This record gives sequence, structure tokens and C-alpha cells, in this order.
Amino acid sequence: MPQGSNNGILVRQMLIIRKMTEDDLDAVLAIEQACFPRAWIKEHFIAEIVSDYGTAVVADKDGQIAGYLILSVLFDEAEILNVAVNPVLHGNGIGEMLVRWSLKESLKERATIIRLEVRTTSFPAITLYKKLGFIPTGFRKSYYENGTDALLMEKNLAEEEMLHAV
Ligand SMILES: CC(C)(COP(=O)(O)OP(=O)(O)OC[C@H]1O[C@@H](n2cnc3c(N)ncnc32)[C@H](O)[C@@H]1OP(=O)(O)O)[C@@H](O)C(=O)NCCC(=O)NCCS
Repeated sequence: MPQGSNNGILVRQMLIIRKMTEDDLDAVLAIEQACFPRAWIKEHFIAEIVSDYGTAVVADKDGQIAGYLILSVLFDEAEILNVAVNPVLHGNGIGEMLVRWSLKESLKERATIIRLEVRTTSFPAITLYKKLGFIPTGFRKSYYENGTDALLMEKNLAEEEMLHAV
């Protein structure tokens, strides 16, 4: 992994995961634009902040936004709609911390499955999801702007619950 180091432990110790507010959006949008060719706009994030079905959180490092994740839970299905980490902080365990948070939150909300779509070219993200037990379930051909395919992945949360029960 690039850029990761023992500093990663220190960085994670200084992080809290908290609800995203509109005051965070300048920092969130800067990360979003640095990470994605077709970035979400401010209104997309506002819609998730106020949504009854979604939880938008940030990883806050001493008041600086290190990353964020948008989770939607509808009945027993959870979906990671967006996750990104400030590129200068990649490789410090922050993405993993955010995705692990989404697993716990989904269980708390009584979801039994968690899904996501990811660009087939996003090797770091796919590796992260596989590490946390997501499995590929299908493709959407030419789903993204430049013809990139989407890989569909999901994780059975019942397994996650059993892991924490023992
Ligand atoms: C995907 C992303 C969120 C990962 O965040 P991160 O904080 O850099 O990742 P972490 O340091 O928590 O890494 C956790 C695991 O992810 C995988 N990983 C992360 N970066 C990787 C890389 N460059 N190459 C291979 N695997 C990688 C590894 O499995 C790693 O575990 P390890 O440290 O035991 O090897 C980050 O790369 C990102 O913001 N990418 C751009 C946005 C994006 O693609 N989002 C996903 C949309 S679906």
C-alpha cells in the first residue's frame, strides 16, 4: 500500500467519526473532486445529510475532514453510496475505519445485507471491500461516465453479527 506507515496508528487515534454537517461541505467537496472524475455536487451531499434513510459521516482529525462515508439503510438493506479519503492521507487505515463503521451502523439499524457499486478500475477500494468480506455479485456494463464498468459487491451482515457475538 502506498503512503501507509506507522503514522497510520497515530492518525487513527486522532480521528473521530461524526455526523456530517453543512459546515463540512467545502472540505468534503474538495476530497470528492480530488477522488472522482464525476464528483457529487453540494446538493447531493445536502440531500443525504437531511435524508431519513441515510447517514452521512465524516472522519474528523482535529477539526480537519480526513474522509467521509454516505450510508443508506432501507428496511433490511444497507448501501454504501459514497466513501472517500483525502488523497494525502491514503494508506493510514481511515477508509477501513469508515467502512467498518458502516457495517456496525447497518447492524444497529437491523440491516441484514450491505451492498455497493464500485468502479472496476478502483483497485484500492475493491481490495478494501474484499478485505472486509464483501463479495462480487455482478457488473453493470459502461455504468460510469467514461465507459468504466461498475462492480456490484455485497456482504451478508448476519455473518458480521456472529463474528461480534463470539
Ligand atoms: C478506497 C479508499 C477509501 C481507501 O481509503 P484508505 O484510507 O486509503 O485505505 P486504508 O488505509 O484504510 O486501507 C485499508 C485496506 O484497503 C486496501 N487498500 C487501500 N489502499 C490500497 C492500495 N493502494 N492498493 C491496494 N489495496 C489498498 C488494503 O486492503 C488495505 O488494508 P491493509 O492496510 O491491511 O493492506 C481510498 O483509496 C479512496 O478515497 N479512493 C478514492 C475514492 C474511491 O474509490 N472510493 C470508493 C468508491 S466505491
